[in-house]
Amino acid sequence: MLRRNLTAKILVAVGLTVAVVIAIYTYFVIRVQSAWWHERTQAQNLIAASMVHEYLNGVMLSDRHEEVQGFLQRMQASGEIRRGRLIKLDGSVAFSTETQEVGHAAMHVPAELFGEGRVLQGEHIEDGEHLAVAMRPVANAESCQKCHNAHQPYNGAIILERSLAPAEASVAGNRNLLIVYGIVIFILVGVVLWLLIVRLVSQPVTALLTQMRRVERGDLAAHAEAQSPDEIGELARDFNAMVRSLDATKRELHASHEKQMQQASKLASIGELASGIAHEIRNPLAGIGAAVEVLSEETGLNGQRTEIVGEIRRQITRLNTTLRDLLDFARQREPEIEVCAVGELIKPMLALVRPDVQKQHITVAEQYDADLPPIRADAGQVQQALLNVLLNAIQAMPESGTLTVRATVTNDRVQIRVADTGPGISPENLQKLFLPFFTTKHRGTGLGLAITRTIMEKNGGTIRVESEPGSGATFILEFQVHLPAAVSTAPESTPEPRHREPAGPEGTDRVLPEVIHHGTH
Ligand SMILES: Nc1ncnc2c1ncn2[C@@H]1O[C@H](COP(=O)(O)OP(=O)(O)OP(=O)(O)O)[C@@H](O)[C@H]1O
Ligand SMILES: [Mg+2]
Repeated sequence: MLRRNLTAKILVAVGLTVAVVIAIYTYFVIRVQSAWWHERTQAQNLIAASMVHEYLNGVMLSDRHEEVQGFLQRMQASGEIRRGRLIKLDGSVAFSTETQEVGHAAMHVPAELFGEGRVLQGEHIEDGEHLAVAMRPVANAESCQKCHNAHQPYNGAIILERSLAPAEASVAGNRNLLIVYGIVIFILVGVVLWLLIVRLVSQPVTALLTQMRRVERGDLAAHAEAQSPDEIGELARDFNAMVRSLDATKRELHASHEKQMQQASKLASIGELASGIAHEIRNPLAGIGAAVEVLSEETGLNGQRTEIVGEIRRQITRLNTTLRDLLDFARQREPEIEVCAVGELIKPMLALVRPDVQKQHITVAEQYDADLPPIRADAGQVQQALLNVLLNAIQAMPESGTLTVRATVTNDRVQIRVADTGPGISPENLQKLFLPFFTTKHRGTGLGLAITRTIMEKNGGTIRVESEPGSGATFILEFQVHLPAAVSTAPESTPEPRHREPAGPEGTDRVLPEVIHHGTH
């Protein structure tokens, strides 16, 4: 509970500090007061001893010794002293408030009293009562030497004992008062602090937390009160700004998602429609193709007609290619993942485009990292993707240029970069490049890059393009590196990298030859 409650934590910490400060303060005040009271009692005791001394001189000189006893007892009765004695040099009691002591008891006399003639002060406890003691030597003045031996410097000493109980009672009273004050201050500080924390910290933080929880639950209408100009107010303002920006991003995402969904459903319907039409057209087209074949074999066609029939055959081939592209895009077969050597995927595709490369006087540069690891992908599909990109690059350089193919490895990704020195792509077209049916070519279908991107996604790879208008374009295809440990358990993997030869027109994998047509129309 305490660990989770900020108010309680601050209160306990401050409370403990205040309590310790008050305790230390009270302790020192009591000590100072107690010392003061003790000194005061001692001083009073000394004054009383001086008074006795004066009195003694008077009565001794006028030979009224017997009055001394009475004087001491009157002092005792008035509460001035607890006990009073006059002792002789040998310590025997000459006069005392305790009459039974007189002439009997022998007191212990400290050496300094008569040795140095010092006034001595001290304290002792008797029957649980603290007593202040003052000892004052009585000097042997000339006037005293009538009766006392002239060779002795002192005739005796006055010893007075005064109770310290009144001093202690006063100190105790003050101590109790200080403790009461301390408790009152402690409670006051606690209450004021509690009110301040609740008002300035706890309430705003709880309110902020409530709004945060709303955001956590997905309610972006949350808004925190941010009126105070302090740090908590700033926190609330930042929180509100963050929620607003989150809300805006969410709306944007939602809008873009909606758009994508619309686009996707539009594409799906177009795809369906297109593949339906493609199926419908394919058979009649095959019939027309067969009929044209028959016509072309007919003898007696003059030169102009042969040319017309040839053109019809070319157009039929083109239509076939477009139909296959459409069907291919609509079908989008699932990849058969295997372990493939990157170099072996690229080289056959470069060989396929060599006739076009030579015709257009294009220089080809190949750069491969020394230890290129194999990748995990459907070899046929990846070759199709590569070929689409290679064909685009070649088509972008009709009058010579340089085609650079690089394959590198970084961390767990293999990167294949296909760069050309063609006209490049405008920023506006860069946005639409991968959309189906986007083309700037007279005879293009605009499906090449759309198919390529789908292939890359299905094979766990990515494709992106870098281009500045006027300085060529670079298409970057990235694949996941094949990790031997990961495949040892994968059922579809093969231990050694292998390259699947592009299938012929009659093969099951018909994609490759189709795309070759697709790229060379
Ligand atoms: N290397 C490139 N240089 C310049 N523009 C390019 C390059 N590659 C693609 N493009 C642009 O992207 C468009 C779309 O390419 P995509 O391959 O999808 O279709 P296409 O090449 O036009 O037609 P198809 O591939 O069906 O023959 C192209 O029409 C072209 O404008
Ligand atoms: Mg293309």
